[in-house]
Amino acid sequence: MHWWQTGIIYQIYPRSFQDSSNANGIADGVGDLNGIIRRLDYLQSLHIGAIWISPIFPSPMHDFGYDVADYCDIHPLFGTLADFDRLLAEAHARGLRVILDLVPNHTSEEHAWFVESRSSRDNPRRDYYIWRDPAPGDGPPETRLPNNWQTHFGGVAWTYDAPTGQFYMHQFHRSQPELNYRHPEVLPAMLDNMRFWLDRGVDGFRVDVIWLMLKDAELRDEPPNPDAAPDARPFDRIQHIYTGDVAGIHDIIRQMRAVLDEYDERMMVGEIYLPLERLMTYYGNGDECHMPFNFQLIGLPWDARVIGDYIRAYEGALPPGGWPNWVLGNHDQHRIATRVGPAQARVAQMLLLTLRGTPTCYYGDEIGMEDVAIPFERCMDPAALQQPETYEIWGRDPERTPMQWDASPNAGFTTPEATPWLPLAADYATRNVAAQENDPTSLLSLYRALAALRRAEPALNRGAIEVIDLGIEGVLAYRRTAEGGDGFLVVLNFGEEMHELNLHQALGGQATELVLSTELIPSRVVTEGIMAMNGNEGVILRLRQWG
Ligand code: GLC
Repeated sequence: MHWWQTGIIYQIYPRSFQDSSNANGIADGVGDLNGIIRRLDYLQSLHIGAIWISPIFPSPMHDFGYDVADYCDIHPLFGTLADFDRLLAEAHARGLRVILDLVPNHTSEEHAWFVESRSSRDNPRRDYYIWRDPAPGDGPPETRLPNNWQTHFGGVAWTYDAPTGQFYMHQFHRSQPELNYRHPEVLPAMLDNMRFWLDRGVDGFRVDVIWLMLKDAELRDEPPNPDAAPDARPFDRIQHIYTGDVAGIHDIIRQMRAVLDEYDERMMVGEIYLPLERLMTYYGNGDECHMPFNFQLIGLPWDARVIGDYIRAYEGALPPGGWPNWVLGNHDQHRIATRVGPAQARVAQMLLLTLRGTPTCYYGDEIGMEDVAIPFERCMDPAALQQPETYEIWGRDPERTPMQWDASPNAGFTTPEATPWLPLAADYATRNVAAQENDPTSLLSLYRALAALRRAEPALNRGAIEVIDLGIEGVLAYRRTAEGGDGFLVVLNFGEEMHELNLHQALGGQATELVLSTELIPSRVVTEGIMAMNGNEGVILRLRQWG
């Protein structure tokens, strides 16, 4: 087994994790690398295996680092390469792997390649990006779009560049021009960027929008989406068959994988939002992504039956040798505690940390951080700013607010004098790490107990999974087993009602012992296989064969 299979991955959104003072002793309200170093002991105490840090590279920050101006350096806001090397060494010394965010689909408009590309039509790097003439017709050239493509942030996918009289293509912000992977020099250059970090000792990459890296060579119009709601935004009214999952993408990914395989024990996890069957193709024959992110728990209704069915479907669809993974949230999605409510947030953590496959956790979810309502005037995210009517749906600031460390002014995230780049949650004085450290029944205590159990028990960190029908509406159950050891039964109550579980009936001849409840109440007796279960409770029971 590899580290990325048995260990939990924890995502840090670096702007919001921990601010430390810069060289002049001034904190700026934005988190940084020295801040992360300060919190490594905390991270280690979570029994996680790796941290994934969202982009920390030089960037004008139009998309908060997902617009990279230089792939081989650190943004001064976050620190220096020396700080990074120290972070890497200190993390490794604590048994924590470090995964960086690679953003190969697009650069910032300030990247040297784009500056050259844009400078003239005959610049040697012109075709590193996707440029097109205005469509034929009347009217000013900037209105004659090359095709009907739209951006994820709202608005058309083409920006007109008057000095050279062409449009460049972007599926995100206009400051994020997309690279042209049909140009023979682009991929080799990106592979060198990967080697730069791998040589420094980075353990792997989370690869941003990996399924979008190749576009239709003819730039054909995308067809209408027959399933779109009448009030859907233009982006959702078309099917994205020419901007994502385009034939040829797997060759690119295989070459990226080959670079990782030049080194020992490095991995890549790909950001891919696709239906199950398409998603699975990104494992390749064990020669593409080590893991394509499985985001379904984010989109599915929070329903025991639906999720049970999906676990079976996902497990059944995995290719031979394909290692599963699960995600509850990230910096692009509303917080899990907001989506399912505080009571179910505990059940959700038990689910994530007991499923088969690598869990990826989002910072703050271990203390139940919720979305913070941000008034439009304080929105920073381009997805909010470009869609003012619907910014509460599409805006991503609410899930990116500062980590709540303690009850002091600014929650220990930055100094009391500094202004955090996004507002803190109103409840930070009560919902914070320090408060939960001292509360044996807190979500943080539950998270640690779950993570420790997962680490200690082969059945949980590598064993098989089998979804079991207990015949109770609103209850999801599954068994985790490893050869030659105890097994576990996980039972999750998605509803508020109490239930009596008859475990012998469900399991046949197996003795059971309650190991952990989401309520963290130390002892509950399981007599003759009968156990009472509370509403919104999840339990883990140890299974032993009779005799
Ligand atoms: C990915 C990132 C998101 C970013 C986008 C463009 O989806 O997760 O935050 O805005 O790519 O890079």
